[in-house]
Amino acid sequence: MSESGRQPDRAAGRQGAPRRRRPHSTSRDLERYADLFAKRTQVMRSSAMRDLMAITARPEVISLAGGLPDTSTFPADSFAAQMTRIAQESSAEALQYGPTEGFEETKACIVEVMEAEGMAPDPEDLIVTTGGQQAIDLITKTLVDPGDPVICEAPTYPGALPTFCSYEADIHQVGTDEDGMRIDELEEQLGALARAGRRPKFIYSVPSFQNPAGVTLSEERRRRLVELAREHEVVVVEDNPYGLLRYDGDPQPTLYSLDGGDYVLYLGTFSKILSPGIRIGWVAAPPPVLEKIGLGKQAADLCTSTLTQYFVREYFGEGRWREYVDDLVGIYRERRDLMLHALERHFPEQAQWTRPEGGLFVWATLPDYIDTTDLLAKALREEVAFVPGRAAYVDGRGAASMRLNFSASPEEELREGVRRIGSVVSEQVALYETITREHVQAPSEDDRGGGADVVPMPKRE
Ligand SMILES: Cc1ncc(COP(=O)(O)O)c(C=O)c1O
Repeated sequence: MSESGRQPDRAAGRQGAPRRRRPHSTSRDLERYADLFAKRTQVMRSSAMRDLMAITARPEVISLAGGLPDTSTFPADSFAAQMTRIAQESSAEALQYGPTEGFEETKACIVEVMEAEGMAPDPEDLIVTTGGQQAIDLITKTLVDPGDPVICEAPTYPGALPTFCSYEADIHQVGTDEDGMRIDELEEQLGALARAGRRPKFIYSVPSFQNPAGVTLSEERRRRLVELAREHEVVVVEDNPYGLLRYDGDPQPTLYSLDGGDYVLYLGTFSKILSPGIRIGWVAAPPPVLEKIGLGKQAADLCTSTLTQYFVREYFGEGRWREYVDDLVGIYRERRDLMLHALERHFPEQAQWTRPEGGLFVWATLPDYIDTTDLLAKALREEVAFVPGRAAYVDGRGAASMRLNFSASPEEELREGVRRIGSVVSEQVALYETITREHVQAPSEDDRGGGADVVPMPKRE
């Protein structure tokens, strides 16, 4: 132990000499490697959230930027007991490679989770993946050639865009309102593509408690979306990490259950109902699609972690996973309410935001003279962070919006985080009003030409 009580720095060399850190790459360094890089690296983009995670890892920063569940709620003693059992009873198998498609036991746990949302998948239709993120990657790798159209929501999950970009998809974003994806706009988009002799490879949607907007697709729109998929013979990719985290209102049928698994490929994950650190997600799809996804996965990582699949098996074996989800629902409901209350108190009246019935995020939209990317620099000086709205679009829209996470921070931090952001926003509003001598109301949907970049949910009834 060092004097500070910490373990000695492992990066230090054998003799204890500190290892020299490589300085950050300069543009000249990058030039030296430029000839090596594949063309596709030119269209790769970074996930804004990943970049932010590095900045917000500083303990003094209150981060409302991540999409993190609160893993401190998972009982450490049960984790220890489960892992000890694995070590004592299945050490050799748990430390070995496993099948590419995942263990049957993991699939049985996945079936339980899907049944809890009214689905009844055949285990043969499942492949276990390294998180939902790999599922998005493998589906795109399997279906998309450079230039192929892909349709997604506006705003969409910021982590999906770098994936679509790296396979050089032609991304079309369809507007969203408080009932989720605008199906009328989707129909127009499908029509326009059809007239140009093009068919999207898939429509990507997060229908329940969407990341980032927090909105949920209404049942009527779900039914129409599934009908449209059939009419146009287009695949829908339903990404549903949050469906079980509902705090009010009635559950909606999943697209997968409405469609019966013909045109809908379903993505799930244990990240938000158990742990993102275990990196286990899945795809439910018809066998021919699954076969190709399996080939893609072999090339990517051979198999999902055997050790964490064993953990899932142990954990589900105890039969209390629903209780833990209920605990999370109780905790996150309180945090959501606290965030909505703090927004009411600390954000200026020109701001508006969504009121999610579940999930982890609120989407706030400010007057359009505020650019949240610039605002983030100011917020970081106040040691608070959020995700700027542009991260959820490919075309620069969303500049006046921000994504706020309420699941990861304890109550006091959440309140303080919203207060700090609110004070930075209020400063900008006051500055603008002083300069222009006008009092600007939040823009209406009409002012924004269709409002595809706003989810209009008025702040006050
Ligand atoms: C909509 C959506 N899809 C996929 C993911 C990735 O999840 P995982 O941790 O399972 O890779 C996330 C994570 O936040 C998400 O919000």
